[in-house]
Amino acid sequence: MGRLSQPLFYKSMLKLTERLQLVAAFLDPCECFADVGTDHAYLPVWMLQNGKARYAVAADINPNPLKNARNTLAQYGFAEQIELRLSDGLQNIAPWEVGAIAVAGMGGNQIADMIAGTPWLQNAEIQLVLQPMTHFEDVRRALRENGFSVLREETVAEGARVYLAISARYSGEPREYPEWYDYAGTLPQNPTETNLLFLKKVLARLQKRASALQETDVTESERLFKIIKEIKNACRADL
Ligand SMILES: C[S@@+](CC[C@H](N)C(=O)[O-])C[C@H]1O[C@@H](n2cnc3c(N)ncnc32)[C@H](O)[C@@H]1O
Repeated sequence: MGRLSQPLFYKSMLKLTERLQLVAAFLDPCECFADVGTDHAYLPVWMLQNGKARYAVAADINPNPLKNARNTLAQYGFAEQIELRLSDGLQNIAPWEVGAIAVAGMGGNQIADMIAGTPWLQNAEIQLVLQPMTHFEDVRRALRENGFSVLREETVAEGARVYLAISARYSGEPREYPEWYDYAGTLPQNPTETNLLFLKKVLARLQKRASALQETDVTESERLFKIIKEIKNACRADL
């Protein structure tokens, strides 16, 4: 699907950070977009300014971030089209409201809980764009176990950090994945500079955990060392 309309030139165009630019680039055009954990509501404003959504719900669990969001709307407009809503995860969002949902800047364990705890997401009409800050394997596991297919995943550098974004949709298709998949996803097949940097960090964390468990849980330690080896073997470049 193309854009809903040509992006208009607004007096003040919102410029996203590289991390949020990647999330925004992954999002498909939709009638109504929901940003869960919105804080400043930058993504909803960008989606409307760029003709990728007509309406948006900017949701956050805390009232203070919604004050930030209100300030952003005061600066860029769209108070009529973007609804600010208190919501713990997707609890106050209705299945029929949204065509695309972003959850960015949150822990992967929190995002995984939202995926597993929201059965109405299992609908091929709804796109999820997820940008976990930690526990990336929990997100891939939750997607896999609940019948979602990963459509795209990419990394981006912003300052000294590298961030991951994943686009997924429910497909309900059972698929076999290797044991290392949750830790590395499709990144080993696409060895861009930032993907390799990201994978090196994943491997360093796995190495630390595997070494720490050598005395107390030999089975888990050996499993993690095996996963490290398999990720290196699967990668199309040296890690
Ligand atoms: C680090 S900010 C990320 C803001 C923005 N999404 C971004 O990526 O730049 C995390 C936001 O998520 C909100 N948050 C944390 N847990 C949440 C939950 N369970 N449901 C909704 N929002 C949540 C926080 O209040 C905070 O505003």
